[in-house]
Amino acid sequence: MKKKMISLTLAAMLGLSLAACGGGGGSTSGGGDSGDSGDSGSAASDVANKDKPLVWFNRQPSNSSTGELDMAALSFNDKTYYVGFDANQGAELQGTMIKEYIEANIDGLDRNGDGVIGYVLAIGDIGHNDSIARTRGVRKALGTGIEKDGEINSEPIGTNTDGSATAVQDGELEIGGKKYVVRELASQEMKNSAGATWDAATAGNAIGTWSSSFGDQIDVIASNNDGMGMSMFNAWSKDKEVPTFGYDANSDAVAAIAEGYGGTISQHADVQAYLTLRVLRNALDGVDIDTGIGTEDDAGNVLSDDVYVYREEERSYYALNVAVTADNYGDFTDSTKVYDPVSKQLDEGAHATKKIWLNIYNASDNFLSSTYQPLLQNYDKLLNLDVDYIGGDGQTESNITNRLGNPAEYDAFAINMVKTDNAASYTSLLSQ
Ligand code: BGC
Repeated sequence: MKKKMISLTLAAMLGLSLAACGGGGGSTSGGGDSGDSGDSGSAASDVANKDKPLVWFNRQPSNSSTGELDMAALSFNDKTYYVGFDANQGAELQGTMIKEYIEANIDGLDRNGDGVIGYVLAIGDIGHNDSIARTRGVRKALGTGIEKDGEINSEPIGTNTDGSATAVQDGELEIGGKKYVVRELASQEMKNSAGATWDAATAGNAIGTWSSSFGDQIDVIASNNDGMGMSMFNAWSKDKEVPTFGYDANSDAVAAIAEGYGGTISQHADVQAYLTLRVLRNALDGVDIDTGIGTEDDAGNVLSDDVYVYREEERSYYALNVAVTADNYGDFTDSTKVYDPVSKQLDEGAHATKKIWLNIYNASDNFLSSTYQPLLQNYDKLLNLDVDYIGGDGQTESNITNRLGNPAEYDAFAINMVKTDNAASYTSLLSQ
């Protein structure tokens, strides 16, 4: 171990002196998952763009209709990974959190006393795995899902105040010896006219429309994320004391739990943001990819296996989710705080500064802009990464790819696509 550290330091020093001699940008990459020689050199090294480390995050390269993973993109080169979170585990937690809330707070919850617990659902993006999983999770827990091709149908239903929709069914909950019908009164993909999905403003308008035509039937609001959930909460449900449930544990949503927001799910963005940059750091250092992840690094950073899983066959790291409710929200008030077990500064001598190109697909996405990016900005310093953050418009891939004009200036790339099908728009640029 000690020997390895010394050789890394030497390699790094050698790299610095080569660069200082103006030797044309340093040496080549450290090579793969488990090499033991440190990489050296400055940005714009001789490494071909197609061989540089690449991490996809938040939107997993996959077919947006079937969910099938795009393994060509996920294994673009031997330094390519995906970082996200376990969508199914989180979706199940969200559904269970809502069901348990209904059971524990049934007195007064059925606002018009008709024996039907009515809920409305804000859907983020019908082609995004996370969104699909969350819609399924809610329908499954509440008994409103209907199977289609072996999975719960995740389509939006429009309005269903009479219970006649065919993509969902009425569920039933027995609470305290009394049976209640559970009905999805309405659901809609929150996409604005310009094409941006997970759109908070659209959700705020939708609750306005829904509440004015069947407001007294709405007892619960479920949302695929907090951005949309908070927009509905502020527009209507806070005043009406209708519990609203979201996802992401953004700081504003966590704070709103004190004012009646029902709950949210932390997708452990603090772990994801770390992993996003850490896999690049490791690939650039030419060390085992598990360094500072499952194996403690030279600064003492390490993650325990209750906060993430790695699926090698998918080249993907997934953070695990935690429910945030009135019982525990005090522990989640700052969503941008680095995760303590991986908060130690790397030594610049052994881990020289590298230049990273990173994009956020939609600069106005609540989760990405208020939680994920601030976390990345906290970790980049700790990991000695000089990151250029590019904010997209959330609608077109070209708005982002246009700003990847000179990949040779960067040592590694972190990509958040607009559509999960579009990985080739990026890899083709790196392959040129
Ligand atoms: C988050 C959403 C966000 C989306 C963007 C999801 O993982 O939960 O809040 O809008 O990613 O891709």
